[in-house]
Amino acid sequence: MSIHSELIPRVTVEGAVYPSLKGKGVLITGGGSGIGASLVEHFCTQGARVGFIELNSDTADETARRIGAATGNPPHHEAVDLRDIGALRTAISSLSERIGPVRVLVNNAGNDDRMPLENVTPEYWDERFQTNLRHQFFAAQAVIGDMARAGGGSIINMGSISWMRGAAGLIFYTTAKSAVMGMTKSLAREVGERNIRVNSIAPGWVLTERQVERAKRIYHGKFAEYLEVQCLKEHLLPPDIARMALWLAADDSRLVTAQTFIVDAGVV
Ligand SMILES: NC(=O)c1ccc[n+]([C@@H]2O[C@H](COP(=O)([O-])OP(=O)(O)OC[C@H]3O[C@@H](n4cnc5c(N)ncnc54)[C@H](O)[C@@H]3O)[C@@H](O)[C@H]2O)c1
Repeated sequence: MSIHSELIPRVTVEGAVYPSLKGKGVLITGGGSGIGASLVEHFCTQGARVGFIELNSDTADETARRIGAATGNPPHHEAVDLRDIGALRTAISSLSERIGPVRVLVNNAGNDDRMPLENVTPEYWDERFQTNLRHQFFAAQAVIGDMARAGGGSIINMGSISWMRGAAGLIFYTTAKSAVMGMTKSLAREVGERNIRVNSIAPGWVLTERQVERAKRIYHGKFAEYLEVQCLKEHLLPPDIARMALWLAADDSRLVTAQTFIVDAGVV
């Protein structure tokens, strides 16, 4: 948090309470850190029954402990590599036993590492798609049966504005993230009759701990420069994305589906 406070005076927002989220089974991928940890915390605060999946088991344990202590509503978790679809399915089934039928799925896990174009191998390309796209479909496939039987649900896929801006240095990531938008639309059509909604959030640059560390190392002065392209002159933080996810998960957005919501402080 000290890294953030150097950059931004922390703005306290009195967040909305959504009664329809209380007691609901919510599954979040990549919930150990960054935007995912903020999602876990926000859904726990709403009184939802939260389960999350995370690659790093130490990070997962620490995040679960911290959020449990802060909210009084400890989340459940499984340490799993989402690139392994068999392990992902087992983790979802194990978490469902603890949180009840999954009524909200937030497909958040991803990784935006860079690699020069010339160094990209077919194996790396496939691995990047496993990290940034494939698990979103298979996690959705694993929960839609229970969701439908329970009366419906909301699936939220994490996209990115990077491909809309033609960002360079991570073409495997931007290509996968552009597909999230198309997958969201087709999936929404396929499961709409079962009262399942599917939407996507495309964040701008969100100052997670990891993003700040990297930007400090690689791009000195990029923080101020980035604000120039945003209409609103304040850096995005994980809660700014989590609050959009809460609304998309709650019944307040009950007829909203097949959409991508850009949360980027107005990058133009
Ligand atoms: N931070 C941003 O500026 C930004 C902008 C646009 C989109 N996004 C998207 O938001 C999502 C979250 O990003 P973030 O910035 O919080 O990233 P982050 O790296 O801070 O957190 C991602 C979490 O996902 C986990 N994860 C990664 N690969 C995994 C795997 N194979 N199996 C299980 N868990 C795995 C990581 O361990 C980590 O805890 C990603 O989909 C990312 O592409 C982020």
